[in-house]
Amino acid sequence: MWRLSVSIFLFSCLAVSSSSYGDSEATCSGIVPLRYRYDKISITDYGGVGDGRTVNTKAFRAAIYRIQHLKRRGGTLLYIPPGVYLTESFNLTSHMTFYLAKGAVIRAVQDTWNWPLIDPLPSYGRGRELPGGRYMSFIHGDGLRDVVITGQNGTIDGQGEVWWNMWRSRTLKYTRPNLIEFKDSKEIIISNVIFQNSPFWNIHPVYCSNVVIHHVTILAPQDSPNTDGIDPDSSYNVCIEDSYISTGDDLVAIKSGWDEYGIAYGRPSSNITIRRITGSSPFAGIAIGSETSGGIKNIVAEHITLSNMGVGVNIKTNIGRGGYIKNIKISDVYIDTAKYGIKIAGDTGDHPDENYNPNALPIVKGIHIKNVWGVNVRNAGSIQGLKGSPFTGICLSEINLHGSLNSYKTWKCSDVIGTSLKVSPWPCSELRTTGGSYSCSSTF
Ligand SMILES: *[C@@H]1O[C@H](CO)[C@@H](O)[C@H](O)[C@H]1NC(C)=O
Ligand SMILES: *[C@@H]1O[C@H](CO)[C@@H](O)[C@H](O)[C@H]1NC(C)=O
Ligand SMILES: *[C@@H]1O[C@H](CO)[C@@H](O)[C@H](O)[C@H]1NC(C)=O
Repeated sequence: MWRLSVSIFLFSCLAVSSSSYGDSEATCSGIVPLRYRYDKISITDYGGVGDGRTVNTKAFRAAIYRIQHLKRRGGTLLYIPPGVYLTESFNLTSHMTFYLAKGAVIRAVQDTWNWPLIDPLPSYGRGRELPGGRYMSFIHGDGLRDVVITGQNGTIDGQGEVWWNMWRSRTLKYTRPNLIEFKDSKEIIISNVIFQNSPFWNIHPVYCSNVVIHHVTILAPQDSPNTDGIDPDSSYNVCIEDSYISTGDDLVAIKSGWDEYGIAYGRPSSNITIRRITGSSPFAGIAIGSETSGGIKNIVAEHITLSNMGVGVNIKTNIGRGGYIKNIKISDVYIDTAKYGIKIAGDTGDHPDENYNPNALPIVKGIHIKNVWGVNVRNAGSIQGLKGSPFTGICLSEINLHGSLNSYKTWKCSDVIGTSLKVSPWPCSELRTTGGSYSCSSTF
């Protein structure tokens, strides 16, 4: 009995002290240990020339071949000194650190006709943009473990303009390459790197686990098509922290496959933490979906600072998706200027083909959004569920979304059941106002 009360006492002290220091000190970056590499090589030892003109594909492939085949205990660090290294796409290998010095730039060539093609992802059934295969990501990792990409804020530059123009002129043959993709990989760290001008999505971990991304900067013009920042896809134990993202599409978008292909593959995204992200985009700050067919659960996003946004928080799915979106907790979001503050919608995104099952309705359940403050937000929010599958357990608390006087609008809701507490403007009758003992915040 005595022991029990002591442990309860200790537990409550811990709980108090951790909350009194605030979540801003919290971190999940420790889920992947940072390994010291005794073995170090430089790209210049393999013929790399950082003059911005020499094509360094052979140097990158040779250096990585050396790491893969001449295995050194504890792995190997590949150092990229200052300079501009033009190269075609290449594959990483396991047990390596890719280290970009200050002033190191790895720049993608623009000869799109020669870009390698790889198979579509099974959970998408085809390329995301066009049927068939897809162009391999500029930097690619398949089936790897223990990979670190870091340094002193060197740059990985996709020179995406040529790809964006092909998209604009509808001359693409296959789905554009991501800037970096890890597939079927684990124990990945990406930190202190600048990603810029990705042809398509920037960072795409798919079928991965234990991925940490922190202190990255991701930049692409506001009008660049589909340049999502970070898209964890059918992956679990992902930690994204302390980053600045300003692109032409969603800053962070959690996905898990597309319609009948995603349902069949059945790989959820879960246990994903997103913390202390700042940025700007014509689309969403924190997005979930719209490809959600493998299911998305146990997501925490907190301390998000957004400006000049399309939508602050956007949860999106569609009929034919199946799967679920559940146990999502989003808190402490500050929005300066947006078209929408919060948008939860069941009619977003296209289908891979006509074979999707219109009866495969997603389940959206247990979405808690707390402490959101917005100024100059044109539309506070809308929550539009599905007739055959209403969104339930939608819980909003302490939300203030203010517009300029003449554009101030109320919420739009349909097919949704939930609660609200201290939400301004007043949300809608579907979200019955709570007070007193029960509130959403008690489940946070
Ligand atoms: C979930 O992720 C966090 C950090 O992001 C980690 O500390 C925790 O161990 C993970 N939980 C499980 C069940 O793997
Ligand atoms: C790179 O990886 C892809 C996908 O695993 C593979 O198809 C391709 O052959 C690899 N390329 C090289 C040069 O090793
Ligand atoms: C790199 O950039 C990040 C994000 O802006 C910053 O926090 C970090 O201190 C920088 N690191 C170095 C080594 O300059």
